[in-house]
Amino acid sequence: MLPEETLDVLRQKITITDHPRELAVEVMFALQKHYGYLNDEAVQEGAGLLNLSPLEIEELATFYDFIYRRPVGKYCIHVCDGTVCWMFNHQSVLDYISQKLDIPLGGTTEDGCFTLLPVGCIGYCDQAPAMLINGNLYGPLTPEAIDAVLKELRDKQPPQKEDR
Ligand code: FES
Repeated sequence: MLPEETLDVLRQKITITDHPRELAVEVMFALQKHYGYLNDEAVQEGAGLLNLSPLEIEELATFYDFIYRRPVGKYCIHVCDGTVCWMFNHQSVLDYISQKLDIPLGGTTEDGCFTLLPVGCIGYCDQAPAMLINGNLYGPLTPEAIDAVLKELRDKQPPQKEDR
């Protein structure tokens, strides 16, 4: 269950909004931050808070690339697979990271450090090919740049969890 302090803030916002559903993303992020991902308990909790059905929460959760319904690593690598990044060979970025971390797309490293995921255009087409890691932008990506950031993050403790 979410901490009382967080629940109070969310309940206050829900009380004064005409359409509590509008707060679904904020509630899901709060739950994800607390649980690490949107597990089934979190779905139920979010549904209760927003007076929605668990299925409605599920639908919203699966729509957003940054809401996770499965456990993820400390660092979520979102490689952009938007059109401009395609033109700048995003596939080679995906292949390189996948090979380097020895995980497939959607996979998490055995040490729980990294999860590799695709994402739609992240709005930094001028930095293509680009990726976000826990919400931080990296690009234009080269094997050297990827090596550097992965090493930096592996060496850094603890990671900064993304808020969104
Ligand atoms: S297409 Fe990749 S950032 Fe826009």
